[in-house]
Amino acid sequence: MAPITFPTTIDQTTELLRSGGYVSDRALATSLYLALAMKRPLFLEGEAGVGKTEIAKVLSSTLQRDLIRLQCYEGLDVSSAVYEWNYPRQIMAIRLVEASGKSTDAAQQIYSEQYLIKRPLLQALEKHDSGPPVLLIDELDRTDEPFEAFLLEVLSDFQVTIPELGTVKAEQPPIVIITSNRTREIHDALKRRCLYHWVDYPNADRERAILAAKAPDVGASLGAQVVSFVQMLRGMELFKPPGIAETIDWAMALKTLNARELDPATVDATLGVVLKYQDDIVRVRGDVAAKGVVSAKKAAE
Ligand SMILES: Nc1ncnc2c1ncn2[C@@H]1O[C@H](COP(=O)(O)OP(=O)(O)OP(=O)(O)O)[C@@H](O)[C@H]1O
Ligand SMILES: [Mg+2]
Repeated sequence: MAPITFPTTIDQTTELLRSGGYVSDRALATSLYLALAMKRPLFLEGEAGVGKTEIAKVLSSTLQRDLIRLQCYEGLDVSSAVYEWNYPRQIMAIRLVEASGKSTDAAQQIYSEQYLIKRPLLQALEKHDSGPPVLLIDELDRTDEPFEAFLLEVLSDFQVTIPELGTVKAEQPPIVIITSNRTREIHDALKRRCLYHWVDYPNADRERAILAAKAPDVGASLGAQVVSFVQMLRGMELFKPPGIAETIDWAMALKTLNARELDPATVDATLGVVLKYQDDIVRVRGDVAAKGVVSAKKAAE
């Protein structure tokens, strides 16, 4: 495998992502390049399915760094995110000491590293053979504010303190990618620690390029029609506009059905691949779909 070089320009950052199958625009590549160069967390906000999580995955694979993922949810706490003591093993150790009749300092022994269960944030601060890992803090908007405040401390100093054991500090900070679907606002104090980037839906050019990278078997002509139709849907103020994943899925579904181009009947029959709410499907099925097919074909010529 070719040696991995860390990107030192925006162009190289674009290239790096591209080599991992990720087609970025200039603005995103710039934000990412700066985050890497300045060793700051990158905070990515955007609608569902626009490629936020994928960035962290592609970075870890192209830079050959470990990927450590902290999936956020309501009620996430320190014992699931940072560390917890392995109580059953600790109790077992105490029993063994008692049974042996030796007088050792059991308390000190059971609060040593071998009884510590390391969760993602602690793992991310440790030394990794392949270099600082990529830490993905995914869907931060799903956690509650106390956890966010805690995270703020970790991201400020890249260290955590375990009362019984001491402070663990990263020799080199991990590459941190934080994502949010913006179901609630993230606190300014946390955002201030990060570089911020709003990940938007791609324009038609970029979406065609993504399709070519992710679903190369789908012909350019069908691909262009699919992209044009999906872009039309995004302009309709649907309850849940389709993301890039839906574009890719739909193109592959059409390819599976051996479709060479869009036609109203096939579009109606496969709308469930692109739209995931019945109300949205009802709105599009029939007239809207038929007109959409005509203009998608025209636009793709
Ligand atoms: N720019 C891109 N280049 C290549 N593939 C992309 C790009 N953006 C998105 N994708 C594809 O779309 C899929 C969905 O992206 P991803 O899971 O990163 O979205 P997300 O923004 O994290 O969505 P959610 O908010 O629902 O978690 C990915 O699996 C990837 O294949
Ligand atoms: Mg995601």
